[in-house]
Amino acid sequence: MTTSPITATTDTVLVAGAGPLRGRVRAPGDKSISHRGLILAALAEGTSVLSGLSRGDDVVRTAAALDAYGTRISAADGDGRVVVIGGVERLGEPERPIDVGNSGTGLRLLLGVAARLPFLSVLIGDESIHRRPMERVVSPLRAMGARIDGRDDGRLAPLVVRGGDLAGIDYAPSVPSAQVKSALLLAGLGARGETVVRERVATRRHTEELLALAGAAPEIGDEGGDHVVRVRAADLSPFELDVPGDPSQAAFLVVAALLVPGSEIVVENVYVGPGRAGFLDVLIRMGADLEIVRRDVTTADLVVRHSALLATEVRGAEVPGCIDEIPVLAVAAAFAEGTTVFADAAELRVKESDRIATISSELARLEVDVEATADGLIVHGGRPRPSGAVRSYGDHRIAMALAVAGLAAGPGSGIAIEGFAAVDTSWPGFLDTLDALR
Ligand code: S3P
Repeated sequence: MTTSPITATTDTVLVAGAGPLRGRVRAPGDKSISHRGLILAALAEGTSVLSGLSRGDDVVRTAAALDAYGTRISAADGDGRVVVIGGVERLGEPERPIDVGNSGTGLRLLLGVAARLPFLSVLIGDESIHRRPMERVVSPLRAMGARIDGRDDGRLAPLVVRGGDLAGIDYAPSVPSAQVKSALLLAGLGARGETVVRERVATRRHTEELLALAGAAPEIGDEGGDHVVRVRAADLSPFELDVPGDPSQAAFLVVAALLVPGSEIVVENVYVGPGRAGFLDVLIRMGADLEIVRRDVTTADLVVRHSALLATEVRGAEVPGCIDEIPVLAVAAAFAEGTTVFADAAELRVKESDRIATISSELARLEVDVEATADGLIVHGGRPRPSGAVRSYGDHRIAMALAVAGLAAGPGSGIAIEGFAAVDTSWPGFLDTLDALR
């Protein structure tokens, strides 16, 4: 191992136990907001300006998809600023299949757009995307009138959509999913009548927030305890958007600082609006020294100091608000005192990898005492000294969570993470940001 805690060979990264992390950093632009910002700008008639966009491959592919439909999008400048010349009238039948790569959000949101467009769209992705469940979006979009086919009767990509002539529906998704909600709202913008989505557990609200920015605020209410969103056909107005930092990416920095003795960092300008800040509640319950310094209603600077953590339980309605952070929360739990339980999180099995299987197998390789359950994890905490070789399974969040375990390993320990390039789907600069904190 070299003196630097992080060294990369082709696709394997070695992460050694680090000294204190210190300084101020920014997480990359929020991925969920970046996808939606681009899509809504493509639908809005006129010129929108978006800055701070995620540079991850997932978002790059959504931009490329919109370009294939006919939206004009400038190349991102050094600040991730792009100019989008949008309008529904510009959109036409793409000549080739649209390849979303690894992006579930890209695919599901673009399905909502394709459903309203009166021509053929063919949507494909990588191996992981072709395993992920699509019926949750395909079935309500078919009920709205879109003709959609795909493998296993449309349950799996590749998917072929012949859209147009949609009618609104009143729909309660069977799984709490912002992707499903957003796909239906996007389709509803081009449908006759009203489209209503009823969520038992409210999910992230980026689509609702950005629709308001584009002058088409949906009606949002609480009906019998359900979070209910209603949209009608609308023309969107162009807008300016400065994308805040991604809380799901900030989570890796936050947990790293909590675990590495002597650390004190500030992660600036992180989105902490509804449906995204759940991991902060979990960590605070675990005893994290964590200050949330508000900038405005939905963004904050996170001030984090090394802390001794205690076990907790994460289950029920809390899960959708921290689903993407569970891999790194499991790493935090491995270093906490006591046994942490993650339950009601079967959705983890259908993310970029089966995250219940992948995080438990890789933490077990690092000699963490962890059990996989049908719908979660049981992590027996302690003072592990992770070392050895692990794999990402092509999943960016598994790779970054394991890197955090490596940093926390303590002097003289280190882990090798194979398949680290998966991180590029969401955060190509992750290692540089960690280096900047040393
Ligand atoms: C996302 C919603 C979540 C999340 C994903 C991004 C979004 O998925 O896991 O990483 O941008 O809407 P589900 O909505 O399917 O739970």
